[in-house]
Amino acid sequence: MTTKTDSPYYGRFDEIVAALAASGEAADRFPPQGTPTGLATFADLFSGIGGFHVAASRLGMECVMACDIDPAAREAYQANFGLLPAGDVEKIHASEIPEHDALFAGLPCQPFSIIGDRRGLADPRGTLYYEVERIVAARQPRAVLIENVKQFTTAQGGRALDYVASSLADLGYGVDWRILNALDFGLPQRRERVFIVALRGYPHQSFPWPTPCEPMTPLADILEVDPPSSATVSERIRRARHAAHTAAERPAVWHENKSGKVTSHPYSCALRASASYNYLLVDGERRLTTREMLRLQGFPDEYTLDARITAARRLTGNAVAVPVVEAVLREMQNACA
Ligand SMILES: C[S@@+](CC[C@H](N)C(=O)[O-])C[C@H]1O[C@@H](n2cnc3c(N)ncnc32)[C@H](O)[C@@H]1O
Repeated sequence: MTTKTDSPYYGRFDEIVAALAASGEAADRFPPQGTPTGLATFADLFSGIGGFHVAASRLGMECVMACDIDPAAREAYQANFGLLPAGDVEKIHASEIPEHDALFAGLPCQPFSIIGDRRGLADPRGTLYYEVERIVAARQPRAVLIENVKQFTTAQGGRALDYVASSLADLGYGVDWRILNALDFGLPQRRERVFIVALRGYPHQSFPWPTPCEPMTPLADILEVDPPSSATVSERIRRARHAAHTAAERPAVWHENKSGKVTSHPYSCALRASASYNYLLVDGERRLTTREMLRLQGFPDEYTLDARITAARRLTGNAVAVPVVEAVLREMQNACA
């Protein structure tokens, strides 16, 4: 069995930086665009494949460090941004993180999702918030942006969210939160996530949240013209889906919920990291490709993800929707200008 310590990337941040220097840095496909208005640099905790990074670089921000425990995520991050993330956040001393204006934390969502058992911060993965708190307390960035599943707002009767908000308030931040849906920011994916914004010295609950704006990109623009035949489901699955459901339109993404009910929409339900293999099917006939999953999360086609399809499903299902982060970050920039 492979353990996380077997990974060639596993280790302390300074060791990883040395390893990266020795291995030669990959090119950055997403260098900062233009001059940022307020927040110039960021640290990317739980960086995954870099949804925060793509959005921040569009606003001219520069990454000073990233970390993620998943080797496949780190590999993708390095291939696209030329920066190899460190590993386990619990092993990173706050003093090892270069100074930064904004701290991003796409916290692991399992402890708070409806799929999990909703133990919230009591779950060891939920306690990773304490790592965020530790680093914010030590480094005091001007801004903090946390993203999680919508169920985080009700986990433990709201106590998990209260804890996060009051701990950031105690550290001198004005805190606000809102549930935003990727569908309202131009993506054909219904994906509701809570965004928690904390700005140092800012009034509480007064963050100017972005308003839903762009028209939805048509699903047809996201779908590949010539998907590989490996995406096609078996005849047995296809028949079962078509026996259970008739779609009102095409193309559509068919969704099968946990109790077997099939529905379809001209957009996708939320991509999930650990869902069953066939829960989302294009027109009840084929699975989504890696490129389609990236597009559904708003990653541009310059982004490369050279991973097996099971890893690609996990990585894209975990990612943050880029246009939503970009819209929130733009308001954070304005608030900190
Ligand atoms: C919800 S995902 C964040 C995805 C990211 N925002 C993106 O756009 O791809 C949470 C991430 O936390 C990582 N993670 C879990 N435990 C961790 C730990 N102890 N240290 C660092 N990263 C960890 C997971 O590997 C996963 O990639």
